[in-house]
Amino acid sequence: MHETRTPLLEVEDLAVEFDTPRGPLRAVRGVSFQVGECETLAIVGESGSGKSVTAHTLMGLTPLLARVAGGRVAIEGRDVVGLPDRAWQKLRGERIAMIFQDPLSALNPSLTVGYQIAEMFRRHRGTGRAEARRRAAELMAQVGIPDAERRLNDHPHRFSGGMRQRVMIAMALALDPILLIADEPTTALDVTVQAQILRLLRRRQQADRLGMILISHDLGVVARAADRVAVMYAGRIVETGTVAEVYQRPAHPYTIGLMRAVPTVRDGDAPLEAIEGHPPDLAAPPTGCAFHPRCPFARDVCREEDPQPRDLGPRRASACHFAEEMIAHARTR
Ligand SMILES: Nc1ncnc2c1ncn2[C@@H]1O[C@H](COP(=O)(O)OP(=O)(O)O)[C@@H](O)[C@H]1O
Ligand SMILES: [Mg+2]
Repeated sequence: MHETRTPLLEVEDLAVEFDTPRGPLRAVRGVSFQVGECETLAIVGESGSGKSVTAHTLMGLTPLLARVAGGRVAIEGRDVVGLPDRAWQKLRGERIAMIFQDPLSALNPSLTVGYQIAEMFRRHRGTGRAEARRRAAELMAQVGIPDAERRLNDHPHRFSGGMRQRVMIAMALALDPILLIADEPTTALDVTVQAQILRLLRRRQQADRLGMILISHDLGVVARAADRVAVMYAGRIVETGTVAEVYQRPAHPYTIGLMRAVPTVRDGDAPLEAIEGHPPDLAAPPTGCAFHPRCPFARDVCREEDPQPRDLGPRRASACHFAEEMIAHARTR
């Protein structure tokens, strides 16, 4: 018999709104997913689709002028939306941690890397100065930073992009969190370094049984690194399933478009096509399905009715009126 465990992370019908001079802008809407132990969920989508706003919200770091307008986030079964700052300061780092898209802006430029990592132990664990430094060096060595002892004394700008990302990973893992969010962790890196960082994350995940959210706009990265995928468009998860399900039988035209635009997953030598047009202005979203203005399959109902995510199987869903047809279409290609 299967043991039913509380997932590490549950997100239900999450909505996040920005107050803008033009009125409320819903950057995230109706977003639901779960992440279990040792599992990697990838969130993919074009720039502006709501990936980072979602990630920051899960960390209790709702951006300025934004607020959770609805829904539920639970970490290990505990509701966390609206927790007081003090409670968040304990959760953040100790249970849930994040690797930010831009390590240079996430690290303090005027403090040595060793100081910043040691500070995690000092602040959260009350560890003494010498011991905290020793553990910082140990962590840096564990994430593959050569000559860690000496590099403790360097400031962030002295590290290469890849090494700086390793510093971020060391900091994120310092307090043994159970959940790790990596927001485009390899976007700024060249392909070789990208692969090294993803391998490092995978290894640490297996060793510590971490649940992980890997955010990327690159379906190729996701195919190699994730178990499950959630495709985001205009603030909504338009399709979700295992990597194999979503890649072999995409159930949303946006996913089909994204896959055609990726050289590593497109079939044979079909031409590389980007999806035409732009994501909608979320302050004035289109009627019906947010994707309909760019959708080659759109029909009247798509302009009129906003399709809600529909289950197509266990943990498999699409928010397309014609999900079944999309799967059939992908099959015959
Ligand atoms: N500071 C802000 N003020 C108003 N709207 C914002 C702000 N930051 C983000 N948004 C809105 O939220 C959307 C999602 O942003 P984001 O989550 O950063 O996208 P992604 O990480 O997928 O590229 C943007 O398209 C924009 O409409
Ligand atoms: Mg982002």
